Amino acid sequence: NIEAIIFDLDGVIVDTAKYHFLAWQRLARELDIEFTIEDNERLKGVSRMRSLEIILEIGNKTLDEKEKEDLAFKKNEWYKEYIANMDESEILEGAKEFIELLRENNIKVVLGSASKNAKTILEKLNLIDCFHAIIDGTCVTKAKPDPQVFLQGAEAVGIDPINCIVFEDAEAGIEAAKRAGMVAIGVGEADTLKDAHIQIKGLYEMNMERLMSL
Ligand code: BG6
Ligand code: MG
Repeated sequence: NIEAIIFDLDGVIVDTAKYHFLAWQRLARELDIEFTIEDNERLKGVSRMRSLEIILEIGNKTLDEKEKEDLAFKKNEWYKEYIANMDESEILEGAKEFIELLRENNIKVVLGSASKNAKTILEKLNLIDCFHAIIDGTCVTKAKPDPQVFLQGAEAVGIDPINCIVFEDAEAGIEAAKRAGMVAIGVGEADTLKDAHIQIKGLYEMNMERLMSL
């Protein structure tokens, strides 16, 4: 039985990767680190601090905790500037329609995101009221690929993990979903999604028939 659908946010409902990239690249420039759009792929689904550590690794730099905190804070201030004017037009194709369809069919709609900005973004997209539960980066202690975020999501709506399906665009998220004992659907074109149970290009491909066939 499919009783709950858990959505990742970034890359599944909205394409924020471009804004994350702008902010990380600005920080990397300040640190004299060359950080490319290809490198940015490695940051998808990864927590803010871990993302910074990956960039520092690329640049062969080591900093202490306080310095890292300050840099992560600065990046986030820039990121918030870049997403300040975000609105419903940035919702990825089919996402809103699919969420509405799920609600009409009495399926719980849950967010499972690593981002601490998730609620702000959902508000901007006018989607916040569509979710029965929101688990984001402020709720968890262990980042994806740990299954915590998805298990908490299932628990929040009182559904057994076995009856949950996860939509994810990142490798770490696919692993997290599988470790949670859930069906993992990879969203996007990346070949890093080959570990997903099923892969789709976008939520516009989804309908009830396809969902029930999973
Ligand atoms: C994930 C993104 O959803 O959230 C990552 O894919 C991002 O790129 C992570 O680093 C944390 O986001 P935030 O908004 O808390 O910095
Ligand atoms: Mg994502």
